[in-house]
Amino acid sequence: MRKIKLGSNGPQASAMGLGCMGMSISYGKPNDEESVATIHRALDLGVNLIVTSDAYGAGVNEALVGRALKGRRGEALIATKFGNLALGGGGANALTGGHPDYVPQACEKSLKMLGVDVIDIYGLHRVDATVPIEDTVGAMKRLVEQGKVRYLQLSEAGPDTLRRACKVHPIAALETEYSLWSRDVEHDILPACRELGIAFMAYAPLGRGFLTATMKTLDALLPTDRRRDHPRFGVENINKNKDLIAPIEAIAAAKGCAPAQVALAWLLAQGKDVVPIPGTKQRKWLEQNCAALEVQLDAADLAKLNAAFPLNAAAGTRYPEKQLKALGI
Ligand SMILES: NC(=O)c1ccc[n+]([C@@H]2O[C@H](COP(=O)([O-])OP(=O)(O)OC[C@H]3O[C@@H](n4cnc5c(N)ncnc54)[C@H](OP(=O)(O)O)[C@@H]3O)[C@@H](O)[C@H]2O)c1
Repeated sequence: MRKIKLGSNGPQASAMGLGCMGMSISYGKPNDEESVATIHRALDLGVNLIVTSDAYGAGVNEALVGRALKGRRGEALIATKFGNLALGGGGANALTGGHPDYVPQACEKSLKMLGVDVIDIYGLHRVDATVPIEDTVGAMKRLVEQGKVRYLQLSEAGPDTLRRACKVHPIAALETEYSLWSRDVEHDILPACRELGIAFMAYAPLGRGFLTATMKTLDALLPTDRRRDHPRFGVENINKNKDLIAPIEAIAAAKGCAPAQVALAWLLAQGKDVVPIPGTKQRKWLEQNCAALEVQLDAADLAKLNAAFPLNAAAGTRYPEKQLKALGI
């Protein structure tokens, strides 16, 4: 597995990570045994970037990751996050997600759930509009000084927030949605990361599974699946969006690879600082996703994909209206 330095001050990370959210919430039915086997297989393949959050089942996903890493802690970079209270991070507490007094409380909880004494990469899951970023990152910096956390990251932060945060402490990575059908970061967020030496951890790189060409209708999703609340998966929009998939399938067929690998190879082609973190709870998908590192897209393939997926190619926003407000601030 190819390794890269995560940001100008960060650790050596695998060029592709493993997103663990769907192992516990949101997508399909949990299967802890296969999820643990998937994390073990990731480590076997040299994937060290294991991504979770205290919001994924209020610590349930962190506990699963911690269990899987028992005895193999040294092989992993654990990236967890705090401050997404809307999704389930945090407990009964009057403090908002980015409050400097909340940050050490959240960290203690994550350390306990993960069963570790240090978190490799600790991140703010959503910027708290009610707290100056300097105060939140100042509290995160104290955790680094105390040896509880090694590196810092932000998620879904805007360019100004990134610039202000970096003045307080180096930020190793920004974890934000980026894929063929979510390219808005290319305008100012990705350039800001490059200016500041911040790696870009691309979440939902498979368009929450849509770009794999395995979910062209809602029948592919369980009635409880969270994607049903996402506008792009709404009945009318999914019908329009399924037409976007054809160029991915055509390139995949010509190369003898899977559509998911084309979607990941396109992201990898955007720069060595772009680290996709595809989510899966199945070894077969993890292996397929890792093999995307060997898929080479030539200039004609990239041009075809860029033309098929201009900004706003998808019908529907990438989150429901209410959640959009917390993005890019
Ligand atoms: N910072 C944030 O705000 C934020 C938000 C969302 C996600 N994330 C992180 O990013 C990670 C990845 O994003 P995501 O999981 O939302 O979306 P994703 O990686 O784009 O897609 C995950 C979906 O694709 C399926 N899948 C994965 N590989 C596949 C393959 N090769 N072929 C067919 N299907 C495949 C998975 O199925 P199975 O579940 O059946 O394996 C799952 O349904 C998450 O796990 C989470 O850690 C962060």
